[in-house]
Amino acid sequence: YLGLETEEIGRSVYFFESVTSTQKVAKEYAMNGAKHGTLIVADEQTEGRGRMVRKWYSPKGTGIWASFILRPDIQIQHAPQLTLLSAVAVVQAIKKVTHITPEIKWPNDILISGRKVCGILTELQAEEDRIQSVILGIGINVNQDKNDFSAEIIKKATSLKIELGKTVNRSSLIQSLCYYIEQLLHLYISEGFTPIKSLWETYAVSIGKRISARTVKGTFDGVALGINNEGVLLLKQDNGDIVEIISADIDFA
Ligand code: BTN
Repeated sequence: YLGLETEEIGRSVYFFESVTSTQKVAKEYAMNGAKHGTLIVADEQTEGRGRMVRKWYSPKGTGIWASFILRPDIQIQHAPQLTLLSAVAVVQAIKKVTHITPEIKWPNDILISGRKVCGILTELQAEEDRIQSVILGIGINVNQDKNDFSAEIIKKATSLKIELGKTVNRSSLIQSLCYYIEQLLHLYISEGFTPIKSLWETYAVSIGKRISARTVKGTFDGVALGINNEGVLLLKQDNGDIVEIISADIDFA
């Protein structure tokens, strides 16, 4: 990591050729006191996990499968803001390295040409109302070719190589990611969520569009108005009611 320009994020790195899931490893390291900014990265995951108990396909040598251990001094209810912050960091890192500007689909899917290139999974370890650590898992499809994806997945997913037409250097991308996470965390700590929220909104695709939000309480249709200060999505239904969507899968209408 010769080009790493950070003080904390990614300063301690543990690289594995193959793990079950970097989330799992990061949780163990966090429990054993790993410091803020510690990065667990693997060339392959055999049991990569996505949101909502889905699998995350993580083949060898093609992607960035990474989990960061963060120990921010924030209240537990503000933790979702970190997910949005990381989505902004991923967009900025991809933009820096590839000159492609991806889009964010709430809450944390990163898309290029409407297809998913990165997913983010944030998990908290807390004791009572104090955050012990935040495990920020980031999976980026970097150098997969079209035929590395199944026919089903390629309808919805893409990689940076497919979009750019050439291989992307994974270490430059991860260094850049560390840099933006650190910069945005500094901004967040000093100025609060407002500047992060505006950055997030500049990159977000869902805002102003008709969407369908599938939640545990059922499906809600309407126009996505934006996010509030907690990172909750505000959806205006056709009858004018505004619903707060905390967790959902979003489809564009
Ligand atoms: C999603 O979009 O559902 C989130 C995907 C998160 C995948 C990353 S890859 C690194 C880390 N380890 C995992 O098992 N999952 C996350």
